[in-house]
Formats: sequence, structure tokens, C-alpha cells
Amino acid sequence: MADPRVVIVGATGAVGKVLLQVLEERDFPMQSLRLCASPRSQGKKVLFRGKEIVIEEANAKLFSECDIAFVAAGGSTSRALDPIAAANGCTVVDKSSAWRMDPTVPLVVPEINGADVEWHRGIVSVPNCSTTQMVMALWPLHRVNPIKRVVVDTYQAVSGTGAAAVDELEEQTRQIVEGRPLTREVYPHQIAFNALPQVETFTENGYTTEEMKIFRETRKIFHDESIKVSATAVRVPVTVSHSEALHVEFERPMPVDEARRLLSAFPGVTVVDDPASSAYPLALDAAGKDDVFVGRIRQDISAPNSLAMWVVSDNLRKGAATNGVQIAEELLKRKALLRHRATAAG
Ligand SMILES: NC(=O)c1ccc[n+]([C@@H]2O[C@H](COP(=O)([O-])OP(=O)(O)OC[C@H]3O[C@@H](n4cnc5c(N)ncnc54)[C@H](OP(=O)(O)O)[C@@H]3O)[C@@H](O)[C@H]2O)c1
Repeated sequence: MADPRVVIVGATGAVGKVLLQVLEERDFPMQSLRLCASPRSQGKKVLFRGKEIVIEEANAKLFSECDIAFVAAGGSTSRALDPIAAANGCTVVDKSSAWRMDPTVPLVVPEINGADVEWHRGIVSVPNCSTTQMVMALWPLHRVNPIKRVVVDTYQAVSGTGAAAVDELEEQTRQIVEGRPLTREVYPHQIAFNALPQVETFTENGYTTEEMKIFRETRKIFHDESIKVSATAVRVPVTVSHSEALHVEFERPMPVDEARRLLSAFPGVTVVDDPASSAYPLALDAAGKDDVFVGRIRQDISAPNSLAMWVVSDNLRKGAATNGVQIAEELLKRKALLRHRATAAG
């Protein structure tokens, strides 16, 4: 197959901008690249590899002229556009939560379940950013010593909410420093100099939708309905990179040295763990990088066969854009686009 024709829907957003960088950095093979956003941005120009690309409307005709669509434009846009793209022979790599728990849609972290792209029917979902970094730190351990239960507390960056939330944190910080009245649009409370124990909306069981995504998506990615996950998701005034405190219970004892060895050997994971020199993963250090960083690995003294650790990753890269591009690479490697095109045509 010739190099694929690619479109990004949501190219002007927080994830879309990083997608452009990642496609360029990884030298992703492309015959052409088209960019779409909301009607507000149509007609604007974006620079890619030194060339200006005009933002277009995403519609059936455009999708019929593309092979892969990266869709990063929110759940309602995904629900409206992805089926149109798929029906027109364009395989969708979707960043939203619209299809993640749909049993006909693979939910993929390529280092863990890359083979799942094989059974897609036109849409492959990228997991939630908090889920992705957590499963990257759990999988190398789980596959040798099954995990029974995980308790995770997240410290999530505002860029996880999108470009408007980054603006809100910066503006509120300026307003406070300059003694001006505070404005607030994105979050239910002031985010600058604060920590909000609410990411997304509350569900009937008291957990938020974000916390329930971490629980459900982990099971789907691992193909294991027995793992128990309890999450508390917290928004913090950090621009990029989510941090997570994990408490993990295994079937059998898991020595700290063994965990360090298994994690260090896993592609996409870097262990930063030297407490004596205050070396541990930091949000600022992880920003702009693709790896998931793990440190503070220690026996959890509150339960048998348990470890505690600290996991940090750039939510816009491995949490969204990089994982999406890796999925597209997996689709190409497994010739899963070709098969899909043949199905849509026939
Ligand atoms: N941020 C993260 O860390 C992260 C991680 C994983 C997944 N995600 C998911 O990725 C998606 C994008 O998130 P984001 O943070 O990049 O949001 P964002 O910064 O708010 O950007 C949204 C993008 O979608 C475009 N858009 C809005 N309505 C559209 C429509 N009707 N048709 C076409 N394009 C439309 C916007 O265009 P305009 O600029 O013209 O408004 C913009 O390019 C969301 O589904 C989010 O849940 C985000």
C-alpha cells in the first residue's frame, strides 16, 4: 500500500497540536495531511514541515479521500463524525471517550495489546490519559505476578481538560499575583494555587466519570475482568503531565528490586528511583517526553504482597497523541488499514 492519506480532526486543540509534532518527530509515513477543526477555525492556516495547511470542514467527501483520521475534538464530535469516516473507508484513531467501552471497538496501548487493532471495524480508541500511564506501569508486573487490586490517586494537569483550561490557570495566576478579581469558566472552583478532587462529573456510586474510566479501561486493555481498581482523580495547577500514586496488591510477593528490573526492561517505561539523591519522576521533567516515568517504588507496609509507586507521564503525548500515532503505526504494520479499506469498499 502507498503511504496513507491522513487527516487530523481537532488540529487546533491541545492534543491536535501535539499530534502534529509527534507525526513530524516520528517521521510517520504520509502521502498527504489534511487538518480540520470547528467552524471557528476553518480557513485558518497551520504550518507543517514548512508548508501551510488550510483548516477544512470534516465531512464524508474529505474522509473518503483519507485512509487514517486522528479524531481529537471531544466526545460529541467523535460520535457524529467517526461513523461517517469509517463508512467512507477511513480508519479512525479516536482520542475521546465516545467508543472506549464499546465491545466492537478495540481500546489499545500498543506495548500491551497492540494485536487488538486487528479486529477493529473502522474505529480504534485511545484510552484515557490517566489509564494509559497507569497500565504502562502495571502491565510489566501484572504479566509475571497477577495484580489483584490497585488504589490510585491522580494529580492531573489542566491541559488534560484542553486548551481553554491552560488559559484559565495562567489567567487566574496572573489575576491573583496582580490583585485583580478572579474569573472562572472551565472548573467549578479556582484552580490556581488549589487542588480539586473532581475530574469530570460525579456518578451515582460517588466516583467521577474519570475515576470509573480508569477502572473499566484497565480491565478492557488487560483482557482481565478480575482486577479491582479504586481511583481518586484530582486536578492540580500543573500545566502538563499527570502524576499518580499507586498502591498495588499482587497474588504473590513482589520484591522491590524485581519490580525495578521488570519496569526498566519494558519499552516506554523509565525508572527514576534514587530517593537518597531526591531522584524521582517529576511532572516538569516528563513534559515533552514520550516515556512513562516510575519511581518511589517501595513495599506497601499496609498490606501483604503490595507495592507503592509514583508514576508520571505527559498526558498530551503518551496520554493522547503519541499513543494515537503508535496505534496508527500498529495498523500499518499489521496491514489492518488495507483490510479495512477492502471491507468498506466491498
Ligand atoms: N488533553 C488531554 O490530555 C487529552 C488526553 C486524552 C484524550 N483527550 C481527548 O482528546 C480530545 C481533544 O481534547 P483537547 O484537550 O485537545 O481539547 P481542546 O484543546 O479543547 O481542542 C478541541 C479541538 O476540537 C476542535 N473541534 C471542536 N468542535 C469541533 C467540531 N464540531 N468539528 C471539528 N472540530 C471540532 C476544536 O477546534 P477549534 O479550535 O476550532 O475550536 C479543537 O481543535 C477530547 O475528546 C479529549 O477528551 C485529551
